[in-house]
Amino acid sequence: MPLPYRAFGFDEIGNAFRLMQNAGHIGKIVVLPPVAGRDEVANRPAARMSVDSLGVHLVVGGIGGFGLAAANWLVDKGARNIALATRRGIADIETLEAIKRWENMGVSATIHACDVTDEAAADTLLKTLRQIGPLKTVIHAAMVLDDALINNLSRERNRPVIDVKAQGAAVLDRLTRADTLEHFIMFSSATTLVGNPGQANYVAANGYLEGLARARRLEGLPGLAIGFGAIADKGYLAQNTDVNDLLSKRIGKTALKAQSALNQVESYIRSDPGTVDAAVAMVSELDWACTRNLPVVRNALFEVILRTVDQHTTGSDGKTMDLVVMIEGKSPQEAEDILYDLVASEIAAILRVSKDTISRNKILKEIGLDSLMAVELGISFQQNTGFDMPLSGVADNTTVGDVARKLYDKVSKRDHGSDEDSEPADNKIVNELAQRHTGNGTEKVASQ
Ligand SMILES: NC(=O)c1ccc[n+]([C@@H]2O[C@H](COP(=O)([O-])OP(=O)(O)OC[C@H]3O[C@@H](n4cnc5c(N)ncnc54)[C@H](OP(=O)(O)O)[C@@H]3O)[C@@H](O)[C@H]2O)c1
Repeated sequence: MPLPYRAFGFDEIGNAFRLMQNAGHIGKIVVLPPVAGRDEVANRPAARMSVDSLGVHLVVGGIGGFGLAAANWLVDKGARNIALATRRGIADIETLEAIKRWENMGVSATIHACDVTDEAAADTLLKTLRQIGPLKTVIHAAMVLDDALINNLSRERNRPVIDVKAQGAAVLDRLTRADTLEHFIMFSSATTLVGNPGQANYVAANGYLEGLARARRLEGLPGLAIGFGAIADKGYLAQNTDVNDLLSKRIGKTALKAQSALNQVESYIRSDPGTVDAAVAMVSELDWACTRNLPVVRNALFEVILRTVDQHTTGSDGKTMDLVVMIEGKSPQEAEDILYDLVASEIAAILRVSKDTISRNKILKEIGLDSLMAVELGISFQQNTGFDMPLSGVADNTTVGDVARKLYDKVSKRDHGSDEDSEPADNKIVNELAQRHTGNGTEKVASQ
């Protein structure tokens, strides 16, 4: 009888290893190789970012702002026919200056009034452009904002925000199916990654763009959604400093300059493997220490990033928490509770589970703490507190509560890592746990 197995796509290999590390599987883990013609090969873009000098390159939302910066970037890459479209279709001073500069370089540019959500109008625009040359690039950079807390949002308020992005992208997708496009790039936002209170409609709209980029790649069509963080010098935030200030409070003051962000898009395109997963990328400077206040960022997905941030923000002695001070003046029970809370948080973070799933009587081995994780845990705990987490004496039935109790013994003696248990903790943990294998049909990491 064949062994039970769980299969992962080649582009999900990280998840496969994570499952194996957690010993959460039964039987074998299978990683399927890419299939030529279906996966990366058919969709793989050119190794270099090429922009066809004879073709036409359309930027919707390209009059002024970040969209205009994108058009300029296409010109830098070799585009010689640029079309800029917005609903109003009226060039501002910045756009007029850009067009003049381009003309001196032999680049011709046209300005169009077109509501991208209006399929008939978009169809007319595209037919006009195809008379100039083959359509080669579509950049969808149009947006409308209407921020409010979700309770205050209504269908009427959401519609324009979502339509311009989602319906606009769907129209462009449908109408360009017969064109031999090199690039179909949609401007999304880093808020789809980290969320942003007050921008539910905008985040949802950008989420659609990301789904569409993936769906296009599945069909062998070019598709890329880039989630940009704040852009410092061009576009909406540069024009609306009050909104920018508000955003800075939530996700930090860090912002990229438009040119730098677009250079990063180019780097990404050059190394883009062409897979479906690679259809979405984030180009953003995020201040993670600040972003951690966002509920989405408290998700276990971000644990590794936040941990790294913590390590970089530790004091000169490398410690962020003084456990001795934390339990000073507390009764033994209170002190142990504090330390249990800390231990449970650390274990939950390592296991990428919510803290609620950890309890005092849970046996470490049974909740999936393997030797690699124990090492990871021990090192970071040492760095953050100066104390070794007492895992080295882990017996088969050691519980989370046992660890907290042992830690309490150490801390209450105010003995920073000098007891016989402490060194070399990492080696001891590996050696002790290396011997262990779980029964019940599961397998452990080969290196253990
Ligand atoms: N600026 C940033 O910091 C930032 C950060 C992350 C992501 N992004 C993304 O980058 C893109 C450009 O941002 P931006 O800051 O340059 O925005 P912006 O200054 O507000 O420009 C948006 C443009 O979209 C046009 N537009 C709106 N509705 C349209 C429609 N239905 N059809 C055609 N055009 C329409 C607007 O012109 P009309 O009003 O004349 O139509 C305007 O020119 C957006 O997709 C945004 O999500 C920007």
